[in-house]
Amino acid sequence: MAGRIPQDFIEDLVARADIVDIIDSRVNLKKAGRNYQACCPFHNEKTPSFSVAPDKQFYYCFGCGAKGNVLSFLMEFDRLEFVEAVEELASQYNLTVPREGGSQPSGSPQKKNEREQDYHLMEDVTRYFQHQLKHADKAASVIDYLKSRGLSGDIVKKWDIGYAPDKWDGVLATFGTDEAKQQRLLALKLINQNDNKRRYDFFRDRVMFPIRDKRGRVVAFGGRIIEGDGPKYLNSPETRIFHKGYELYGLYQARKENRKLSRILVVEGYMDVVALSQFDITYAVAALGTATTPEHIQAMFKATSEIVCCYDGDRAGRDAAWRALENALPYLKDGVMMKFLFLPDGEDPDTMVRKVGKKAFEEQLDKAVALSTFFFDSLLQNHSLGSIEGKAAFKAEAMPLIEKIAGENQRDLMLAELNRFMGNQQAYEHEQNIRNANKQKAPPKSDYNRPAQMALSPVRMLIRLLMDEPSLASEHPKINIAALSRSKINGIAMLVEVYRYCIARPNANTSTVLESFREHPHFRHLIKLLETEMHPRMNKSAEYVACFKKLLSMHFDARLDELTLKANASAGLTAEEQKELTTLLQRK
Ligand code: UTP
Ligand code: MN
Repeated sequence: MAGRIPQDFIEDLVARADIVDIIDSRVNLKKAGRNYQACCPFHNEKTPSFSVAPDKQFYYCFGCGAKGNVLSFLMEFDRLEFVEAVEELASQYNLTVPREGGSQPSGSPQKKNEREQDYHLMEDVTRYFQHQLKHADKAASVIDYLKSRGLSGDIVKKWDIGYAPDKWDGVLATFGTDEAKQQRLLALKLINQNDNKRRYDFFRDRVMFPIRDKRGRVVAFGGRIIEGDGPKYLNSPETRIFHKGYELYGLYQARKENRKLSRILVVEGYMDVVALSQFDITYAVAALGTATTPEHIQAMFKATSEIVCCYDGDRAGRDAAWRALENALPYLKDGVMMKFLFLPDGEDPDTMVRKVGKKAFEEQLDKAVALSTFFFDSLLQNHSLGSIEGKAAFKAEAMPLIEKIAGENQRDLMLAELNRFMGNQQAYEHEQNIRNANKQKAPPKSDYNRPAQMALSPVRMLIRLLMDEPSLASEHPKINIAALSRSKINGIAMLVEVYRYCIARPNANTSTVLESFREHPHFRHLIKLLETEMHPRMNKSAEYVACFKKLLSMHFDARLDELTLKANASAGLTAEEQKELTTLLQRK
């Protein structure tokens, strides 16, 4: 692992960047008053509800709720990981991203160069296999085989499909011209070495499918046998650049071809992905001879909100689907979904799409089984609800799985369904009613004279105000929120942190405040707070003062209660506390 990027660097970078420039180079922005606007790049719309505020360095979509600072935008729009987004932004300003810590195993220039040479070699070998497909001795019969599988020349080119010749030293002789080069070939598992130290090609006489990582670099190969003995597919073993539980065949291409991936289809084989793309279904990916791992699911939900997993309808297919379901639960946020499509016996997506065509195939996808349905159907296969014991066992298996679901609403709905099976409908509804009653009701729209603290607690309102206008902190030197840091009021710790940040950085804006709290456990709450509407004519400065007064009085009330309790207890109050109590009582 490379060292961490210093937080200071990130914050300075965000402060230096201009969100308007960055977004405008990707989405055409139009000036509208103080802000800029455009049709939202994150959902389909005809009239613009996506707005960028230069003063806050923040974007917000009134349609879909997408929001954040310049790094959030790069992560969402360019589909980058956080670190990649930082690197991308830094490169726009010609800055090198520094790393903490002295030794930087994988980040040092030397190691980096090594990796680049690895990728370079993989790309060269890909070209070599492609060349062999035209020029090897057996080329004609290999091409006949590909034709017999229905692959067009264009699609073979699109997927860089090649051929590893029927020799022991094709790759070895071409690329292993000295010991150092052979060492690299060994490390990348392009050649093998036997007990007698003899070296030879790993892939021989196979149709070659290069596997690209999410940045499009070739990291491995899958090779299909054409005829004869041996495993049907041979895949590159794990290497320093290939971790098969992380990679998905076709994900790079799917993301490249679809600006917005409204759905990803997970299939089992390379041939399936390729055949589907020939039929213009450009959003299929395949796990590389492994089950769908949590890392796969995570990577896919970064790129889309709907995953359809396609399996054989047989026992093995259902088992694989169940494993994918279990791995997916922790990533099922509200707003994403997973579905399952089981194919008839003897069919795979390759044969299916050739038989029925794109339209009918996609109709099947639309009718895929929802995760919840598959979940309960599978459990009901194992348990009979005819007895109390059966119900108990059913519930015991279902509950721990349901609890893993990330999204509160999805979890609640699954619980509701579970309770329906348990025959507990009434109890459940009762529970729901209580829960709804306890949820804070949306406050009536306040007119602007009335302080908006009706809607938000003073703590939350102060956080909201500070995030909106960090300069409020230094403009009111008499208000020292940090003095309340030991108070027991809910959320005070977060408020004090935000306040301290604003005092330390008088030039902060919404974007830099958020950036500094990105790793904070309550980051989600912060960003959520920005959604609460504030009256456009609100006097923020007055509101800030009013909220602080309210907060002080809450604090004193709480303290008064505390001291009164203690005064009545056997230990009594210290002299200092007695004094404090007297003062507090005088305030009343
Ligand atoms: P399938 O046997 O379903 O292959 O294996 P397929 O994609 O339909 O291939 P064709 O149509 O016969 O050419 C599905 C996937 O399982 C892995 C491969 O990733 C393959 O694409 N697999 C299969 C292996 O890794 N090794 C094998 O021997 C077989
Ligand atoms: Mn097949």
